[in-house]
Amino acid sequence: MGIFLSGGGSNMRALVADMTGDHPARPALVFSNNADAGGIAWAKGQGIATAVVDHRPFGNDRPAFEAAINAVLAPHALDIICLAGFMRVLTKGFVSGWQGRMINIHPSLLPKYRGLNTHTRALAAGDCEAGCTVHEVTAELDEGPLLGQARVPVEAGDTPADLAARVLVQEHILYPMVLRRFAAGDKTPIYLR
Ligand code: GRF
Repeated sequence: MGIFLSGGGSNMRALVADMTGDHPARPALVFSNNADAGGIAWAKGQGIATAVVDHRPFGNDRPAFEAAINAVLAPHALDIICLAGFMRVLTKGFVSGWQGRMINIHPSLLPKYRGLNTHTRALAAGDCEAGCTVHEVTAELDEGPLLGQARVPVEAGDTPADLAARVLVQEHILYPMVLRRFAAGDKTPIYLR
């Protein structure tokens, strides 16, 4: 399977760490749009194949960027793509080509807070809990069938960074659990707490 990231890739590292033994999947490629992404260096150190396609030369031509992505993915014959901190929006065209085989983790209790700055928005709304969601990727941003959700309490005085750190711990538990089940062909949602 392939893992897409743009930054440090803590979720990617959690997924890779779990793909051992009787896990039905193995990490075949770590991909990024950012050559300096810490996750790329880490993957190389683990002997995992990596690929980078910088989105900037393509400007607003998302289909051309995505065609270049598919070109570097093709030789790896991937069965599943996991988006893990990948910060580029993918078009309907790209997503349709991976329909049913691409999943993502989002740092909110979807359908609440699609998009960015989820923790800031949850705090501003006075929510008493927050969390993360793993879902199948479909054409609409942060939509798609739910595959898992984990909840955490919001504590008095939380900053967005406090809440992000608390949620990230759960992401690293939930995403590997969901991938293990999804890779075995089981889409039964997992709910933590
Ligand atoms: C996390 O909040 C994750 O939910 C979101 O990107 C953030 C960084 O993830 N997708 P990672 O540490 O790069 O895996």
